This record gives sequence, C-alpha cells and structure tokens, in this order.
Amino acid sequence: MKMDKIEKRVIISSLLLMSLFVFSLLYAKNKYKTDVPECLPYDKAYTEPKVNQLDEKTYQVFSVASMWQFQPSEIYIPVGSEVDFYLTSKDVVHGFNIAQKNINMMAVYGAINKTSVKFDKPGVYDIVCHEYCGVGHQNMRAQVIVNYPRSK
Ligand code: CUA
Repeated sequence: MKMDKIEKRVIISSLLLMSLFVFSLLYAKNKYKTDVPECLPYDKAYTEPKVNQLDEKTYQVFSVASMWQFQPSEIYIPVGSEVDFYLTSKDVVHGFNIAQKNINMMAVYGAINKTSVKFDKPGVYDIVCHEYCGVGHQNMRAQVIVNYPRSK
C-alpha cells in the first residue's frame, strides 16, 4: 500500500516532536532535579505515619498514602478498640476503603480526612486503595489486625 507524501511528513514530524518532548522531560529531570512534588499537610503532626495508643482500647492511626502504599501497613489492635484514622497523601489522590467496615475515604494531598471505626470482632481487615492512582494501584493495601498475634 502506498502512503501519501503529506501523510508520511505528518507522521515523521509528530515522531520528531514526541522525541523532543520526551528529551525535554528527561533533560529537565536530570538537570534541574525535577520530580513529583511532595504535598504533605503543613501541620507536621499528621505527616508522620504512626499508631498512638491513647488508652487500653482507644487508638489514633496517622495513615500516609503514597504511590503505592499505606504507612503504617500493618496495624495491630485488641478487639473492641475504637480507632481514629487521620488520613493524608504525599502525592496524588488515593482511596481508603475498609470494605468490612463500610469505610470509604479519599486520601488527599495537603489535607487530612478523619474517621472513627470500632473493631468489635477479631479478624484481619483489609484497607485497599479504590481510587486509580497509577501502575501500582492494585497492590496498594494495608491491614488492620484485630486480636491476632504479631508475626514478627
Ligand atoms: Cu492509591 Cu490507587
């Protein structure tokens, strides 16, 4: 099949343009060290992933979502615990879903979302990201482990 001369020129020039764009991106990344910006909240209390125990059955979980993980990734608590989740994101919008508890939140960069959950049955509760956030999205998960012994 013969290609029209103009069609050939258009294809060649778009390939050249695409190469130029890719080259410019790589050049900027290397020369100016550009990267995806971190957008953590200004209040540093929420930016460090951690689990705080307030009393015997009251916990605070500071959960930080990023591509493609939740930190902390394993949360061990005793049965009957009331947990306050403070959720933020380092980069893009992620989801935060605990299906067994009907929890559905967004992890938004620069912001904090909060919810409280009571875990009154022992078991392993999966936290999954349910907002498409890139190539590792399907592996982005964490667990709340209620009344199960630590593996380590
Ligand atoms: Cu994070 Cu999908």
